[in-house]
Amino acid sequence: MKAISYARYGGPEVLEYGDVRDPRVGPDSVLVKVRAAGVNPVDWKCREGHLDALIEPVFPVVTGWDVAGVVVQPGASVTEFAVGDEVIGYVREDFLSRGTFAEYVAAPVRTLARKPRNLTYEEAAGLPLTGLTAYQVMGKALGVKRGETVLVHAAAGGVGSIAVQLGRHLGARVIGTASERNHDYVRGLGGEPVSYGDGLAERVRGLAPEGVDAVFDTVGGETLRISANLLATDGRLASIADPDVVDYGGRYVFVRPDAADLLRLTELAEQGAVGVHVSETFPLERAADAYRRNEEGRTRGKIVVTVDWDSESPVSP
Ligand SMILES: NC(=O)c1ccc[n+]([C@@H]2O[C@H](COP(=O)([O-])OP(=O)(O)OC[C@H]3O[C@@H](n4cnc5c(N)ncnc54)[C@H](OP(=O)(O)O)[C@@H]3O)[C@@H](O)[C@H]2O)c1
Repeated sequence: MKAISYARYGGPEVLEYGDVRDPRVGPDSVLVKVRAAGVNPVDWKCREGHLDALIEPVFPVVTGWDVAGVVVQPGASVTEFAVGDEVIGYVREDFLSRGTFAEYVAAPVRTLARKPRNLTYEEAAGLPLTGLTAYQVMGKALGVKRGETVLVHAAAGGVGSIAVQLGRHLGARVIGTASERNHDYVRGLGGEPVSYGDGLAERVRGLAPEGVDAVFDTVGGETLRISANLLATDGRLASIADPDVVDYGGRYVFVRPDAADLLRLTELAEQGAVGVHVSETFPLERAADAYRRNEEGRTRGKIVVTVDWDSESPVSP
């Protein structure tokens, strides 16, 4: 089958579009025919070797963790899914090897949920990693409650976009950092936009003079330090970008695949509480350009790679 893989760590130039061996379906997995795969910063951080201490690579690595597609073969033990089911998944394992930027991926059922009926494949492919992260931070680590005020950083990005919507769904007021060009977009999600950079603290205090009840940090460093000072008494802080958050009494979160959480996100999408904005799509063979674009750090919503089902493949449903 065709896939995007890399045989050594490096920049987008190490990505190759070509044939890799077909995935074999383990007992607890299903073979998914990929329709779309979401681009996430962690994909290129892995490719550059930044997660080497955390996740062992088995080269050549097929990149990508997010997927939307159709089940074409359930594994021997699988009762949850059948041939023809539309699914989404955050297909992360404890090693880097068989990712989602491919015509097929063998996905453990613990990484999957049914696809939201009201989302396109492209939108659905942008939901798993960002949605799970936002859900596990806003709902679990921060425990955001009705009537609270939450500060979400990078509110126009993949994770932030979902976090703003979840915060609103939970009944909170959400202040979201974004550059000026994204302020209307953040407003459309239900957030109150503030520009980041010089004067951030003053702008947030202008909106929340008593401080905020919770901060979702997606940036780290100086942003984290400023945010810690914006917390109201007993305010909570979580970061997905900077493990030093523990020095400020906060929690570092590394998202995990969780089928129950993912199903909850599917339900929230179907209720209209959470949507995915796809800003750009690229065909699979141009995945390197999709990554180049995301690496600029200015993605609004999600960039998604699509797989052409007319292309020939040795594995058929
Ligand atoms: N620990 C975990 O489990 C976990 C999970 C998911 C993501 N992450 C990490 O979290 C970060 C965000 O992920 P993502 O998927 O949301 O990325 P993304 O979609 O690529 O984020 C792009 C957005 O970041 C905004 N941005 C850039 N610099 C900013 C700043 N200084 N302050 C506020 N906004 C800023 C941009 O907004 P403007 O264009 O308006 O500037 C853009 O909309 C990444 O570093 C990712 O690796 C960690």
